[in-house]
Amino acid sequence: MRLLTDIYLNLLGMGELLENAGAVLQDRLGRKRPAPRGLQGKTAIVTGGNAGVGYATAEALLAAGSDVVLACRSLERAQDAAALLAAAAAARAARSGAQAGGPARASSPAAGATHGAGSSGGPAAAEEAGAAPPGKVEVELLDLASLDSVRRFAARWEASGRRLDLLVLNAGIMCPPDRLESADGLELQFQSNFLAHFELANRLVRHAQRQRRRAQQGGRAQQGQQQARPLRVLWLTSMTHWGGDLSPGELADVPYCRQRYIPFQAYANSKLCTLLAAKHLDRLFARDAAQQAGGAAGSGATATVSGQQGRDMSVAVHPGLVDTFLARNYFKGTAPRVLRPLTDPFFERFFCPRLLRSPEAAAQTVLYAATAPAQEVGGAYVGTAPRVGHHSRAAGDPALAARVWELGAHLCQLGEEDLVA
Ligand SMILES: NC(=O)c1ccc[n+]([C@@H]2O[C@H](COP(=O)([O-])OP(=O)(O)OC[C@H]3O[C@@H](n4cnc5c(N)ncnc54)[C@H](OP(=O)(O)O)[C@@H]3O)[C@@H](O)[C@H]2O)c1
Repeated sequence: MRLLTDIYLNLLGMGELLENAGAVLQDRLGRKRPAPRGLQGKTAIVTGGNAGVGYATAEALLAAGSDVVLACRSLERAQDAAALLAAAAAARAARSGAQAGGPARASSPAAGATHGAGSSGGPAAAEEAGAAPPGKVEVELLDLASLDSVRRFAARWEASGRRLDLLVLNAGIMCPPDRLESADGLELQFQSNFLAHFELANRLVRHAQRQRRRAQQGGRAQQGQQQARPLRVLWLTSMTHWGGDLSPGELADVPYCRQRYIPFQAYANSKLCTLLAAKHLDRLFARDAAQQAGGAAGSGATATVSGQQGRDMSVAVHPGLVDTFLARNYFKGTAPRVLRPLTDPFFERFFCPRLLRSPEAAAQTVLYAATAPAQEVGGAYVGTAPRVGHHSRAAGDPALAARVWELGAHLCQLGEEDLVA
């Protein structure tokens, strides 16, 4: 059975590589993608936004006019990334003819640093020039290996009173050869890739819901605007979720890997949990929207984040096989140790840069998930192309998703106040 599963996964992997190679070819041939719409003036949090897909996503969001918070485990690396992003945004603004008022703003509440951004020409000038004025980039400390760090991040966000439009749960690690433990005593891939993001999403969504409720009760015009802006949660998963095994016999040990630790299996399990959580959250959002729409119809009031068009949404994203630290490290690790002096340069110089997608191309998949309408991507698994892809049968099982949601709530000890249910 294990052998059959391995053959199946290898075939899937080959299929993915071929699709990926097709996407890489199209990217190189200069495939035209429509500019993302509706991101101007939005606020996004990108976990792990200092590197790889997260960095490219932050760059694309800033270019589309969103403010971006890089939520990273190293403030130093995050600030370096913010400075680079700010410089790139300023250069873009200058190129597009917008009257730049200085470099793109990069501010860091945690570190107190502020650089400038945006364009003094204002939205109109930039739009005339065919580009959104760049957003503002900030950095915040978030270490997913510690649930306490997640709680402190969420508390700071709540205290700031800011509104959130887009949460990109991107940070991740893949296949450390030895079993590592988080500060909470859980297997590190399970916690970093899934559980910490699960807690972050729950706390921030509940906070957004409370903000809306207060706005509804207060009925102030400005807060009414806030109510009209739905929240979107994107969960970076992977085609490797096909290898996940969350069967009843396995699920109890998945958070710990105490019985056995197989690096790829633990990664696949974390990505299957992520995909199931993305779908479960979207079911809850869709249910709430339907209830609100029913309530509003009954009372004659306007429920602005209800109905399938403008509702909160949760989407799972597989960015493709992407040339990042994570992928290079993984592919290099597949070779036997004695061969690595030969195989490492092959993966570094040929395989990864030529056959894998660039982080910038992968970011377009993320932006598609961030902007496509609810009926297209709500609760979906968005894949390489970018388009809605095929997930495993287990990933589509609502009962399994509910069990994973319960497991997450139990491990994070989330009370009613902080759990989306
Ligand atoms: N690359 C691919 O082929 C591929 C394929 C499918 C899915 N994905 C998924 O895409 C996402 C992005 O991966 P990538 O390829 O861009 O990897 P990457 O270049 O290695 O970037 C990973 C990011 O996650 C951050 N991170 C790791 N552990 C963290 C922690 N404990 N707390 C906070 N941040 C942490 C890293 O921070 P540091 O810089 O401080 O280490 C880095 O910013 C991941 O979820 C990955 O599983 C990637």
